[in-house]
Amino acid sequence: MKKDFTILGIESTCDETSAALLRGGKTLVSNVIYSQIEEHKKYHGVVPELASRAHAAKIAAVIQEALQQEHIDCVAFASGPGLPGGLMVGRVAAETLATYKQIPLIGVNHLEGHLFACDFENGEVKNRLKFPLIALVVSGGHTELWYVKGYGQYKVLGKTRDDAAGEAFDKVAKLLGLPYPGGPQVSKQALQGRRDAIAFPRPLLPGTWEFSFSGIKTAVSYYLRDHRDINVPDVCASFEQAMVDTLVAKTLLAARKYKTNYIAVGGGVAANSLLRQTLEQRAGKEHKTVFFVDRKLSSDNAAMIALAAYKKLEYAQATGKPLRPNININPNMKVRSW
Ligand code: KG4
Ligand code: ZN
Repeated sequence: MKKDFTILGIESTCDETSAALLRGGKTLVSNVIYSQIEEHKKYHGVVPELASRAHAAKIAAVIQEALQQEHIDCVAFASGPGLPGGLMVGRVAAETLATYKQIPLIGVNHLEGHLFACDFENGEVKNRLKFPLIALVVSGGHTELWYVKGYGQYKVLGKTRDDAAGEAFDKVAKLLGLPYPGGPQVSKQALQGRRDAIAFPRPLLPGTWEFSFSGIKTAVSYYLRDHRDINVPDVCASFEQAMVDTLVAKTLLAARKYKTNYIAVGGGVAANSLLRQTLEQRAGKEHKTVFFVDRKLSSDNAAMIALAAYKKLEYAQATGKPLRPNININPNMKVRSW
């Protein structure tokens, strides 16, 4: 690839319409994100039909703003996992542009994007990640633990059996009458509460690397049903602590088991301050380093999609292996080694 090889990334898997330009696998020239939060707020969650319509309405303008009349060499888009309508909009936009410009089109896995987002620092790709590492990808739609040997070399250890971590935050927020998205709201309330006020469960599911958060959420709903005079900050603080303890315990267990000193955390929930502090502190005691995604790139964005595509191209070039274009959309796409 030439030095200034420029990739246009497109992201539309859930409720952010985003386009970004990445030059030379290094410099983020633009990263335009249109968030649909206002459209979904009154429903306390993402409404797929509304999301598809909003993506369709915004994608052309978002791409135009990101392009800034720059030359591009490749178009990359998130081809899964995600909501079918949004994926379709992203694919059509990406394919139309790539066909018109006669340049390559690459589909990338959205979750891989969340991991690679950890490589950015202040708008530059710093290749911070060190391998092998344990990756914790925690978002509104997914919670997964992977053993990652190197870029594109994955072993998926476990996923959530029910709610994703962000989804649990969103549902608890809804139970408490707090606005969507729930994560930041619950966190804010938690700052005024006591973390040991209520003993919510820590579902560790020993013997598996899977997660299950619906039990914590149900425990919160029973607590609210069975008590009068609810102290919202105490509920938030105790719930957040239970979520964080569970995520941290399993991640550290995996790092020990797979004998690695590196951990990476990406996805919307990676913005959570208690998770960041607790994992950093507990991992530090075991001389393990944690790479957290920059908060600006923790939520869905196209910068991470462009970088994932760049890494795939770089890998194909270095190894001589054919690149799998992966352009068929797949709402349930699994993470696969390259
Ligand atoms: O990665 P993301 O933007 O979208 C998906 O791919 O799902 O993640 C959004 C999720 C939402 O559930 C939101 O409540 C959660 O991330 N979130 C947080 C925080 N900020 C966002 N959860 C806990 N604490 C936060 N500070
Ligand atoms: Zn995401």
